[in-house]
Amino acid sequence: MITSAKSKEMYEVGKSEYLWAKKSMPVLNRLVHRFVSKRYLENLKLGICLHITKETSVLLMALKEAGAKVTLCPANPLSIQEPVKFFLINNDIRIFAKKKDTLRDFYRNMESVLDTKPHMITDDGGELHKRALRRKFKIIGGTEETTSGVNRLEVWGKEGLLLYPIIAVNRSRTKYLFDNKYGTGQSTIEGILKTTGILLSSKRIVVCGYGWVGKGVARCAMGMGAKVTITEVNTLRALEAYFDGFEVKPLDEILSNADLFITCTGQVNVIGQDQIEKIKEGAILCNAGHFDVEIDVNYLNSVDPNHFSPRMNVTCYRVGESKKKIYLLARGRVINLVGAEGNSPEVMSISFANQFLSIIYLSQFHEKLENKIYKTPKKIERKIMLTALDSFGVKIDSLTPEQNNYCKT
Ligand SMILES: NC(=O)c1ccc[n+]([C@@H]2O[C@H](COP(=O)([O-])OP(=O)(O)OC[C@H]3O[C@@H](n4cnc5c(N)ncnc54)[C@H](O)[C@@H]3O)[C@@H](O)[C@H]2O)c1
Repeated sequence: MITSAKSKEMYEVGKSEYLWAKKSMPVLNRLVHRFVSKRYLENLKLGICLHITKETSVLLMALKEAGAKVTLCPANPLSIQEPVKFFLINNDIRIFAKKKDTLRDFYRNMESVLDTKPHMITDDGGELHKRALRRKFKIIGGTEETTSGVNRLEVWGKEGLLLYPIIAVNRSRTKYLFDNKYGTGQSTIEGILKTTGILLSSKRIVVCGYGWVGKGVARCAMGMGAKVTITEVNTLRALEAYFDGFEVKPLDEILSNADLFITCTGQVNVIGQDQIEKIKEGAILCNAGHFDVEIDVNYLNSVDPNHFSPRMNVTCYRVGESKKKIYLLARGRVINLVGAEGNSPEVMSISFANQFLSIIYLSQFHEKLENKIYKTPKKIERKIMLTALDSFGVKIDSLTPEQNNYCKT
């Protein structure tokens, strides 16, 4: 594969990206170091659908080191870091993803991963699981990385459709409390700034959804001086946003007044035709949720078939009789991965430690598990917490015997 000076250069860039991420992923590195020599994954084929980023390359190389044969397809067609992909391919990781893949190719790549008959499935969004559940060959277990994927799997579980045990990595506190909140919070703002270059200070920003991602995004935007309004459908989360110091309003009441909208809900058509028609001239729309369904991109495409791109990852639509301009970022796909590099290595170190240990756990205990969704085992979570604190140099107290007894009285 490395046949020319250009390909050699591409490989070196991918390798540097891998090494750069690896040096900031201490939690994963330490756990890998402890487990890898045991070769728990020897002769196991893993079918994986994740964002192809430098942080993912560290996880995949670790799985390979533990003995697995890894096949990968991307979880998003626009988030592929090409040099990283090239580096992985040249390290015996089979990847189904070409540079100019259409949406059809994107889904076909998932089928190609399944054609290799993997023993285990690791997914980000549930699309690979959905297809794996239609196949006839034996799968011994799976993991799922994100909220939207876990939500879908839970529905399929209730309908009795699951054919193998699945560890919902996103349900691990050591995943969503850090990755969704601090990781995606920062990288979403980074994606918006890299894509638009706008000043956040003084802007009126609407964050739709005050879940783990919304909390992180709102916090970062507020920290940079923006006036942040939260929209919610959940009473508790709305109250939490209010007590965290944010203005909370129904979306309809803030549409004509905001400069930037960020959807973080995992829901469909949060900003649909009715909302888009009321949004003010010049407003920017973007999404941090997993799927490109939160903003009605189909409506935008139909209302202005002659839309144009004033700069990379920005599309300008002229809407309504006044032809007001509305700007959509990253075609409504995850702005933190399309406009920036996704979540930072420090945070992915913890998320992927969950993935790594869950995959090893499944390889060892799948026969004892039912075909349902499991949380990451408590022992694994504890191991990750202790390793994380230690690797960040954080020490904590423990209860004295007197305090321990006091709790029991
Ligand atoms: N971009 C990334 O890197 C990244 C990382 C983690 C999660 N995600 C994705 O982000 C999305 C949100 O994840 P999360 O962990 O915050 O989920 P969550 O369930 O914690 O939060 C979603 C929130 O949105 C609210 N909501 C639902 N419909 C709404 C609507 N119509 N209007 C306003 N609020 C609404 C819910 O009440 C909930 O509080 C999911 O799609 C998840 O898969 C993306």
